[in-house]
Amino acid sequence: MTTNSLALFSLTGRTAVVAGASRGIGAAIAAGLAGAGATVFSCGRSPEPLEPSEGTTYRPCDVTDEARFEAVCREAAGTRRRIDAFVFAAGVTFPSVSGHQSADTFARTISVNLTSAYQTAMIAAKWMHESSSIVFVTSINSTLGFPGNPAYVAAKGGLRQLMKALALDFGSRGIRVNALAPGYIRTSMT
Ligand SMILES: NC(=O)c1ccc[n+]([C@@H]2O[C@H](COP(=O)([O-])OP(=O)(O)OC[C@H]3O[C@@H](n4cnc5c(N)ncnc54)[C@H](OP(=O)(O)O)[C@@H]3O)[C@@H](O)[C@H]2O)c1
Repeated sequence: MTTNSLALFSLTGRTAVVAGASRGIGAAIAAGLAGAGATVFSCGRSPEPLEPSEGTTYRPCDVTDEARFEAVCREAAGTRRRIDAFVFAAGVTFPSVSGHQSADTFARTISVNLTSAYQTAMIAAKWMHESSSIVFVTSINSTLGFPGNPAYVAAKGGLRQLMKALALDFGSRGIRVNALAPGYIRTSMT
């Protein structure tokens, strides 16, 4: 018997949405999902993707804009009215050598990196079903402290706990929620 082992990982017929995918890790994840056969809608604030992901449809969208993100999900879900995977890779960072961050900077970091992850996941889940999957891109800083960036470390730690909370809340619907916690990867952020 011959087995095409790559076929086990085929995403043909599946639909994925990737937030924070105009460049960097999100763009690479979007390209990877498309390469595995998924129909992929990606988004970021930039009018055009700075690092285009082959085979994906890009839509400008700020993750803090719930109405706009809902429109992207509706388009992605299409007539099948389903989203099989949602990846939240959007992130901002405002490091400061002293470790002092203004209240505005702190709030902005939490808003994009944590609150928006919750809001967008809740929106994407409207089109999800048993065996759908949500992935949050957290960071090694979600478990380890790091100097000079308390807002980022707090947001990523919160995002890790949000993953656990939503995994329990969505478990009864058969929706999986996981986190991907990279170490350092060379992108415009680093
Ligand atoms: N690179 C690393 O070493 C590393 C390590 C651990 C974790 N991470 C995490 O991995 C994720 C991706 O990081 P990266 O290194 O690829 O950084 P990046 O190159 O700066 O990419 C960040 C992405 O987030 C998008 N984004 C930022 N604010 C957004 C908003 N309000 N709405 C929609 N999209 C927004 C950006 O697009 P626009 O500017 O077009 O909006 C961009 O596509 C982040 O969550 C980061 O914290 C990175």
